[in-house]
Amino acid sequence: MKSKILQSLHQDHANQVQLLSLIESEIDKLRKEGETPNFELLSLALEYCVDYPSHYHHPKEDLLYEKLITRDPAIAEQAIILTEEHETLMQLTREFADAVGEAIAGDTTDNLRAAAGRFLKYYHYHIGIEESEVFPIARRVLTDDDWIEIDAAFRNTADPLFGDHTRDAYLALQRCIVEKASEASA
Ligand SMILES: [Fe+2]
Ligand SMILES: [Fe+2]
Repeated sequence: MKSKILQSLHQDHANQVQLLSLIESEIDKLRKEGETPNFELLSLALEYCVDYPSHYHHPKEDLLYEKLITRDPAIAEQAIILTEEHETLMQLTREFADAVGEAIAGDTTDNLRAAAGRFLKYYHYHIGIEESEVFPIARRVLTDDDWIEIDAAFRNTADPLFGDHTRDAYLALQRCIVEKASEASA
C-alpha cells in the first residue's frame, strides 16, 4: 500500500513536470520573433491543473502530511508549509489562467510571462521538496493503517489527462504532450 500510494504521487509529479515543460515551451514563444504561444493549449493545461493536481493530488498529500505530523512532530513545520503551498499553487494557477484569458481576449500579453514564470518556478520548487525531503520521511514513519486511510479517501480518482482514459476535452493537450516527449527522445 505504501509503495503504491507513493508511486502514484511520484507518477503525478513526473506527469506534472512534463506538463510544466510544455507550458514553458509555449511561453518561450513570447520571446521569439514571429511565434505566438498556443493560448488555448495553455488554457487547457491550467484547467487540468485545477481539475487534478488541485482537486486530488494536493488534497491526497494534505492528508498524508496530516498523518505525518502525528507520527513525527519534528516535521510539522515543513508539512504545514507544504500544505499552505498548495493554496499558493492554486492562487498562482488562477493568476496565470487570468493572464492567458487576457491574451485570448486580445487585450494584452503583458502579464503572461511574469505569471507563467512564478507558476513554473513555484511548481518545480514544491515538487522538488516533496520528492527529496518529505516523501522519504513519509515512507519511513507512516504506519500501514495511515496508508490504508489515505488510500481509502482517494480511491477511484482517475487522472483525466495522463490516466488510462483521457477526457475528450484534454485530447488535444495529450497529443501535444506525446509529441513533445517523442521529440525529446528522438
Ligand atoms: Fe504538494
Ligand atoms: Fe505533490
